[in-house]
Amino acid sequence: MPQSRRRFLKTAAVAVAGATLFDVRELLAAGPYTRLDVGPLTASSPTLVSYGNAITAMKALPSTNPLSWAYQAAIHGTTLPGSYPAWNTCQHGTPYFWAWHRMYLYWFERIIRKMSGDASFALPYWNYESTSERFLPAPFRVSGSPLYTPNRGPGWNAGTSSLSASAVATSGFMPLLPYFNAQGNCESTPHATVHVSIGGWMGSVPTAAQDPIFYLHHANIDRWWNLWLQQGGGRSNPLSDAAWKTTKFLFFDENGAQKYMTGCDVLRCAQQLNYTYENEGAQVNQYCLKPLPWWVFDREYLIDWPPIKLPPGPDPGPVEIRPRELRSRLLTAAKDEKTEVALEIDGVVIDKQPNVYWEVYLGLPKGTAPSPESAHYIGNIALFGHGVRGEHQHGGFRPAQFSFRVDRAMENALQRDESGSLALTFVARGAEVKGQRVSAARNEANLTIGKTRLALRRLKRT
Ligand code: C2O
Repeated sequence: MPQSRRRFLKTAAVAVAGATLFDVRELLAAGPYTRLDVGPLTASSPTLVSYGNAITAMKALPSTNPLSWAYQAAIHGTTLPGSYPAWNTCQHGTPYFWAWHRMYLYWFERIIRKMSGDASFALPYWNYESTSERFLPAPFRVSGSPLYTPNRGPGWNAGTSSLSASAVATSGFMPLLPYFNAQGNCESTPHATVHVSIGGWMGSVPTAAQDPIFYLHHANIDRWWNLWLQQGGGRSNPLSDAAWKTTKFLFFDENGAQKYMTGCDVLRCAQQLNYTYENEGAQVNQYCLKPLPWWVFDREYLIDWPPIKLPPGPDPGPVEIRPRELRSRLLTAAKDEKTEVALEIDGVVIDKQPNVYWEVYLGLPKGTAPSPESAHYIGNIALFGHGVRGEHQHGGFRPAQFSFRVDRAMENALQRDESGSLALTFVARGAEVKGQRVSAARNEANLTIGKTRLALRRLKRT
């Protein structure tokens, strides 16, 4: 039967050609998945096409379906009435910030894979630390695209607004050794600063996850968790913290089935979750059964500032204190490698989600323009979710806290000024417009700070 044999060969040849040509993404589908830097991607890159297709398909489902766009966003936070399993469960200002958002992205990504029909899909990350990626990625700015939303702050969709350098700085958390300190500072900057800078839906917890860029922002925050750990030096996940290891969070898989996860399930992205980030180093493999030594701070509080209020309107003047007889002690501590001088800010409460974040300066000389490149700059106060009173919140209201290393800034201030004045200056910042810092970023909320203290800290391993 020469006829049918020929037909068989022809069909087989087509199948093989198909497998080698356009099924390459199918062959990769078993993972490991690589999460790509969105910078070089265009609107026609398969990753973004699939992401857009999935969003369109998910938006067609009713909000009661766990695979719908509305339901997935509501797991993070929502203003929709009603209460469905896992809604409003995002973790902010808690020990679970990094872990919860890693779990959330993991299940979300699996759902995108299914809803796009692209079995090799992996979420891209927004690498805004790169100076070439400070604007919203272009494919997200195309009106009519599923990646677009009009609900963003001024200039973002026009491509005129961009993130300022202080909003994307990683220097506030990368050097820290204790997990919860590093996680907390990362949650503030770059996490909260990027939310607040973009504004619109991204600026507020109950709406943020409706913007498709949210998940790329969080992929980047998730990547920094790995990069922080990869620095070594005794950095570790909180393997000695029983609550962190056993607290369960609920999600949905791509079939709409409920899935629970704990911190122990998300320690090793490559091994447990089957993904890595483009350009990241070797994974650090940690195991819940092998707890590592733990870091704690020995603290000594030396100086309190008077209560600080930042009302709506222009930036208030500096809040000054004079350390007087403590001056030489502070200078010695600043020089001592083993002692950190830290500014610890507790009980930070704001009446509504702010439209700005604040750069904080210590010892800024009068008449000097504040610059985050200067030695006076110590970090940011950025609020997203926790600390915000008006925000629709689950798990109760919690004031926020911040802690900055100030050795260099303090030494600089005390050496310059013989009278030993330590002035704290808060400068409200938003997005940059046309590449320029906008001096007119005006605060519209009421911020109060309960306690501001200078502490000497020594790290101890337990
Ligand atoms: Cu749960 Cu960036 O937010």
